Amino acid sequence: MTDLGWVPDGIDTNVPNVARTYDYLLGGAHNLAVDRELGDRVLDALPGARRMARINRSFLRRAVTHLVASGVDQFLDLGSGIPTAGNVHEVATRARVAYVDSEPVAVAHARLLLADVDRATAVQADLRDPDDVLSRPEVADLLDFDRPIGLLLLLALHFVPDSDDPWGVVARYRDRLAPGSHLVVTHATADRRTRAMRDVADSTARTRERLHYRTRAEVTRLFAGFDLLEPGVTGFALWRPEGAGDISADADDNAVAYAGVGVKPTAHPTPDHRARGTLT
Ligand SMILES: C[S@@+](CC[C@H](N)C(=O)[O-])C[C@H]1O[C@@H](n2cnc3c(N)ncnc32)[C@H](O)[C@@H]1O
Repeated sequence: MTDLGWVPDGIDTNVPNVARTYDYLLGGAHNLAVDRELGDRVLDALPGARRMARINRSFLRRAVTHLVASGVDQFLDLGSGIPTAGNVHEVATRARVAYVDSEPVAVAHARLLLADVDRATAVQADLRDPDDVLSRPEVADLLDFDRPIGLLLLLALHFVPDSDDPWGVVARYRDRLAPGSHLVVTHATADRRTRAMRDVADSTARTRERLHYRTRAEVTRLFAGFDLLEPGVTGFALWRPEGAGDISADADDNAVAYAGVGVKPTAHPTPDHRARGTLT
């Protein structure tokens, strides 16, 4: 570790990073000056970005709570980020959880946080390589792939370019999951707030992870082979809001990211199944 204690050796502290910038937007303490500068540029382009980050975490809580109520007691959280309040293992208090992120700071911090938690683990890996992720002993020993798993991909797949085929990546995970498993996704879009989202993408151009916005139809296609739960692919505050805190008064908040939850059916899924969604 460096002098900062929570930054592993070998990290270039002059290059901003998505995981730490998102931590800054969420009010966390695991970010550097370069990340805060980037976060401020994101806020210039999208003044509601802090609120939107919290909306995403609210959605995470609602979706995980729903999965637990449906009997899911194990989760694979890909692109899990720097652990912050309301992590999956805190929402699903009896579930086994494997956190996966490519960012060393996110994983180092997750390991510290999970030191006393037997039922959760953190792995540094690239989510674009399902064979690698699923063969890691920490994942393979913790999760039972013969039983339903909650596969979480929150604000992560927009870092995967089309050339790396995010649809194919999700399909490779899907094919390893037992029926009754769920896919939970949030994904940034420029469908409506096109100008502001372009400015956000421009401001993050210095990071290693570039943003790849997708349309609602493209996000819906990630659910191929899953049955989409109501209300389909929708603005992320509109997915089954439970209380005043889940509902955003600002309609623009729902224009920046889509959310959806699908379940892998028991009957044979057709590979080119087109998931259904509702217009927001
Ligand atoms: C915006 S954060 C989202 C964190 C968390 N999932 C949430 O929604 O609160 C995106 C995370 O995805 C991670 N990430 C980006 N590309 C990745 C990849 N190819 N493999 C694994 N993690 C990745 C980043 O390091 C970052 O921590």
